[in-house]
Amino acid sequence: MSAEDRTRPRGSSRREFLAVGASTVAAPALAQTLTATPAAAQPADPRAPLRMTLGINGRDQRVALDPRTTLLDALREHIGLTGAKKGCDHGQCGACTVLVDGRRVLSCLTLAATAQGRAVTTIEGLAKPDGDLHPMQQAFIDHDAFQCGYCTPGQILSAIACVNEGHAGNDADIREYMSGNLCRCAAYPNIVAAVNQAKIAMKTAMRD
Ligand code: FES
Ligand code: FES
Repeated sequence: MSAEDRTRPRGSSRREFLAVGASTVAAPALAQTLTATPAAAQPADPRAPLRMTLGINGRDQRVALDPRTTLLDALREHIGLTGAKKGCDHGQCGACTVLVDGRRVLSCLTLAATAQGRAVTTIEGLAKPDGDLHPMQQAFIDHDAFQCGYCTPGQILSAIACVNEGHAGNDADIREYMSGNLCRCAAYPNIVAAVNQAKIAMKTAMRD
């Protein structure tokens, strides 16, 4: 060993640096690789339940749902509100209509997660706590605007929105703007009569 070598700290020669330094420099990088790889190689399960709070009929409902759950299934299968009906489950019949922030939506085509932070109204939320029916509910009874009743919750919510949108000025408008809600029992003339009655009652209620 030369005098120069004795005074030089261990690992400071180019040969030692390459032998020792390379392993110590590489160690943290290797450690990072070993700990990072499993997480990166295993993406999160897309079906893992997602916790969410849904505002339904003025009450917060906390649920943990598969992120792919529709609002209709969340209501019917997880929250126990079965008023909204599953007719086609494809956006074609309107039986699943609910209101989100006052606008009608097809809950079979709406992901529950997208309704977070919004006000969802279903048929169960229309009557007052004392049992008084919404004018549209009363009008459907007064005009016999249903037979089997399967389409009725969706018809009533759609009709309320139709009036609030200003699309219930005459019979033709009512038919046009209610055309997304099908009725297998063909109660259409009675439904139009009910909407005509309710629109007056709703205007009166707004003035009072
Ligand atoms: S069930 Fe949603 S449109 Fe038919
Ligand atoms: S009342 Fe039967 S489908 Fe409308």
